[in-house]
Amino acid sequence: MSYQPVIEVSNLCKVYNQGAETVFALNGVSLSVLRGEFLAVVGASGSGKSTLMNMLGCLDRPTSGSYMLDGEDVSKLSDSRLSQIRNRKIGFVFQGFNLIPSLNAEENVELILKYRGEPKHVRSEAAEKALDAVGLSNRRSHRPSELSGGQQQRVCIARCIAADPQIILADEPTGNLDSSTGAEIMKILASQTARSVSVGKNGFGKTLVVITHDPSVAALADRVITISDGHIA
Ligand SMILES: Nc1ncnc2c1ncn2[C@@H]1O[C@H](COP(=O)(O)OP(=O)(O)O)[C@@H](O)[C@H]1O
Ligand SMILES: [Mg+2]
Repeated sequence: MSYQPVIEVSNLCKVYNQGAETVFALNGVSLSVLRGEFLAVVGASGSGKSTLMNMLGCLDRPTSGSYMLDGEDVSKLSDSRLSQIRNRKIGFVFQGFNLIPSLNAEENVELILKYRGEPKHVRSEAAEKALDAVGLSNRRSHRPSELSGGQQQRVCIARCIAADPQIILADEPTGNLDSSTGAEIMKILASQTARSVSVGKNGFGKTLVVITHDPSVAALADRVITISDGHIA
């Protein structure tokens, strides 16, 4: 089997109308990302990185252009179909961790599986394995406020591992962490990609797209692209 693109965007545009002003947040982005590939996206503040991430993550639809995700055109789907695809195929890691404060680590990791209707024993087993994979077996009953930033980010990654998406999208995942903790987090994220092919159902590993302005994070990627004024420089 060869490495196939899992993300294929063509001439993607996103236009925001702010009163009389029109902002081309994305202005003709074409990009393919392979299964198991680790892609870093860099670029100045306001260049369109988060907008691109929102489109790739099916959180929003482009104004024009096409997006083939795993062979399916998702650029024109309804909100409900888009959220179904998102829940199945995409895992998110954000700078601000985005865990649910009232739930402990294990419950946060299980939540997506609960939405999917998985029974308790399946959820528990997946959460246990995932927390083990990120080295947090001994913190499963801790709430986010009882965990360090690095530990919270590891819970977010465990949440991705348990849900087993094809794609992990990470927007500045190390932005709130000191450099050594950030390096640990990136090591765990990179271990989910093709360089560690034991990972995932398909044997390709997950596709990882990381937005970063940290050169040491970008240096870990298989490929780096620069976004400038809404397009790939
Ligand atoms: N919801 C929105 N409404 C209007 N303009 C937006 C919106 N989101 C982003 N923009 C504009 O689009 C451009 C790209 O933003 P963004 O993708 O957040 O950049 P980055 O993540 O690279 O800092 C900026 O000019 C920003 O002001
Ligand atoms: Mg941003």
